[in-house]
Amino acid sequence: MATILAIETSCDETAVAIVRDRSVLSSIVASQIAIHQRYGGVVPEVASRQHLEAINPCLDKSLVEAGVGWSAIDGVAATVAPGLVGALLVGVSAAKALAVVRNLPFLGVHHLEGHIYASYLSAPDLQPPFLSLLVSGGHTSAICVRGCGDYETLGTTRDDAAGEAFDKVARLLKLGYPGGPAIDRQARSGNPDAFAFPEGKVSRPGGGYYQYDFSFSGLKTAVGRKVASLVETEPTLPIADLAASFQATVARTLTARTVACALNSGLDAIAVGGGVAANSYLRQQMQRAAREKGLRVFFPPLHLCTDNAAMIGCAAADHYERGHRSPLTLGVSSRLPLSQVMSLYAEAPIPAGID
Ligand code: KG4
Ligand code: ZN
Repeated sequence: MATILAIETSCDETAVAIVRDRSVLSSIVASQIAIHQRYGGVVPEVASRQHLEAINPCLDKSLVEAGVGWSAIDGVAATVAPGLVGALLVGVSAAKALAVVRNLPFLGVHHLEGHIYASYLSAPDLQPPFLSLLVSGGHTSAICVRGCGDYETLGTTRDDAAGEAFDKVARLLKLGYPGGPAIDRQARSGNPDAFAFPEGKVSRPGGGYYQYDFSFSGLKTAVGRKVASLVETEPTLPIADLAASFQATVARTLTARTVACALNSGLDAIAVGGGVAANSYLRQQMQRAAREKGLRVFFPPLHLCTDNAAMIGCAAADHYERGHRSPLTLGVSSRLPLSQVMSLYAEAPIPAGID
């Protein structure tokens, strides 16, 4: 049983957790949302500075809450990719320094692998193979999970990520940042059938569509056009109906393509992860569609959908048990593909400082 101290600083949450295999001993998340709200989105330089201020208090708190000392820790892990480079560097530098000072192994973790492992934290009996739908602010992918470090991306977005679409549409509707929870709240009192928005499809050269790929930028533009025309004719914008109709279109697209992908790939379980997995309408739709087709579906609790370090620690614990270690020369990367996750444990890693 490996006990890992894990750090996550890839975007706007400073998070530290202590995880023993698949159980969470402590999970501290210092959110920067209130600071970035002023700017309507994450400002990378501000995020890095906030991580610097928050990291030491979060580290102290994680040990106190877990009720363990350093002698109980087997390894130190940090998210190394993908993410904001300056933000990643804060967590990775702290993790490497602790590993050196405490004479412990260091493990770099891929952020998306972390989101996949959030499913194991909430469903410890979940076994590969299964289909993971990762829907976050930066990513939208349907991934066949075959085992630790063994992933095949079967579908992905060709433009905006699902969370990015939520954030952009929320900005159009003047609902503030982050957009996902605001749209989710507004949509509760709206009619999902009030407006018909297009489900973005990705054309295949020579005809037809890529069945499991996503495209959300056209949907965002369609909502923008509808808002522009309503402003001309209506005294007040039907915000709740617009939010509900947009959200229903995203949920319908994600659900239909993910269920088809699982069925056609012979996978009987779907595990959804990432911030958009917190969406109440998506949770309902996916559960209903999966039940109809005899598929099992797993959603982590809300605090494990959005960014946290417990999921990073859980992934690191699995790699640790398999003997995987990262060299201290491992760098950070803004966009390492998930298929290259095992390069984080190779002898010749991503050179430090290279994006
Ligand atoms: O996984 P995450 O915390 O960070 C990234 O790795 O990107 O995801 C953040 C994204 C944001 O775009 C946010 O608007 C979205 O997740 N989100 C939601 C909800 N809660 C967070 N989207 C839809 N409905 C929600 N309830
Ligand atoms: Zn994330």
